[in-house]
Amino acid sequence: MRKITAVERQREIFIRGAAGIRPVIPADPVLLAGKARLQMKPEAWAYIAGGAGQEQTMVANHSGFNRWKIIPRMLRDVSMRDISTTLLGHTLPAPLFLAPIGVLEMAHPSADRAVAAAAGSLGVPYVFSNQASFPMEETAAVMGNTPRFFQLYWSQSDDLVVSFLERAKACGCTGIVVTLDTTMLGWRARDIDFAALPFLKGMGIAQYTSDPVFQQIMETPDPVPQAKPQITLEAIRTLIQATRRHPGNFWTNLKTGAGLRAVRTFIRIYSRPNITWKDLPFLRKHTDLPIILKGVLHPDDARKALDYGVDAVYVSNHGGRQVDGALSAIEALPGIVEAIRQKVPVLIDSGFRGGADVFKALALGATAVGIGRPYCYALALDGQAGVADLLANWMADLELTMGLAGCKNLEEIRTCELASA
Ligand code: GLV
Repeated sequence: MRKITAVERQREIFIRGAAGIRPVIPADPVLLAGKARLQMKPEAWAYIAGGAGQEQTMVANHSGFNRWKIIPRMLRDVSMRDISTTLLGHTLPAPLFLAPIGVLEMAHPSADRAVAAAAGSLGVPYVFSNQASFPMEETAAVMGNTPRFFQLYWSQSDDLVVSFLERAKACGCTGIVVTLDTTMLGWRARDIDFAALPFLKGMGIAQYTSDPVFQQIMETPDPVPQAKPQITLEAIRTLIQATRRHPGNFWTNLKTGAGLRAVRTFIRIYSRPNITWKDLPFLRKHTDLPIILKGVLHPDDARKALDYGVDAVYVSNHGGRQVDGALSAIEALPGIVEAIRQKVPVLIDSGFRGGADVFKALALGATAVGIGRPYCYALALDGQAGVADLLANWMADLELTMGLAGCKNLEEIRTCELASA
C-alpha cells in the first residue's frame, strides 16, 4: 500500500512540473468538475453532477462550510503529523472514505473496479454502491485487505435484501450502509429534461443481475403489467443497450428478452417507500455486520438510531440529490454529534471539496468524511490512476491544513475550536 506524506506529494507534483508534466487531475475542485464535464456525455454529466429541484441543497452543501472558520494556532511544533484514525475497528490512513455512487460506468468503463483498485492502493475504505456497474464480488477482488462496506437500498423483496447482506459479508464487506433517504428518486430536473434514467438502459444494476434471488424474481410474472414504450429507433437502441449489459450471451438474451425483463424487474422492486424504524431489527436478524444508517439529518433520528442499536450514523443529504431546500450536511452535523454523545461513530458526506472542509467536519465531531462527486470526476478523467491521484491530493491537503492550523493529529483537531461566522 502506498503511503505518501503531504510534503512528498507536493514535491512529486512540482518535480514533474519542472519536466513540463502537469497533473491530469486538477487540485482545484471547480476545474476538476469542469474538465470532467468535457469528458462525459451530456446525460451522464446531468445524472452525476445534478441534484434535486433547483439544486439549492447542493449550493447549501458548499456554502454551509462558511458558517465556520478555522483559527490557526502558532508555534506548536507540527513537524510530525499523523492523519491516521480508526473506524469500526479498522485503522485507516486518513479519516476519509469513498461514498457510494451508482452507475459509475457513465464516467469510465472500469467504473467501480477502477475506484476499488485505487482505494485499495491507498488503504482508503470504499462503500460499494447498490447501483454499481460491477457486482460487489468483482469489486472486492481488487481491493486487497482495504476495508469495504456495502450500501443497501431496501428492496421490496426481503429475500433480495437478505441475499445482498449475505453476498456483502462473503466478499469481505465489514458494514452495511443502509441508505434511508432514497425510498424514491428525487425530482432531478436535469434528468427529467433529458428524459433519461440510466437504469432503463441496464446501467447500474449489476448487483441485481448478478444475484440469484433477483434472477428468480425476474422469472416470475410481473403482477402489474407495465406500459409498453412506443417503438421508435431510440426504444430499439435502449433495448439493445439493456440486452448488451445483461450477463450472458447477447443473442440468447435478445431472444429471451432477459435484458428488458431485468430492467423492468429492477424498476418494480428496487425500493420500498414504506420502510420504518420497525423494519431495522430485520437487518439485525439477518446480518452480524455493523449497521450504519445513512441520510440522518435530524438529531431525533440520530437518537432513535441509538435506541435501535445501530453501529454508526451517517449524516448526508445524498449530495443534494433528494430534497431540494434541505439543510446542508455540515450544518446538520453539530446537532447529530450532540445527540450521539460519542456512543457510535458519526460519518458524513455531501459537499466536501477538500482538506479544509474535512478539517471543519472533524472539529465539529465527525469521525470520517465521505468523498463523493470529486472521485467520480477523477475517474472520468483518468480511471484508477485519477482516483488514486485525487485521494493522494485530499490526504496531502488535509495533512497540511491540519499542520498549518497548529494540530499534529486528529485528536488535536477534535479539541480545536472553530470560529462561527
Ligand atoms: C441514486 O443513488 C442516485 O442518487 O441517483
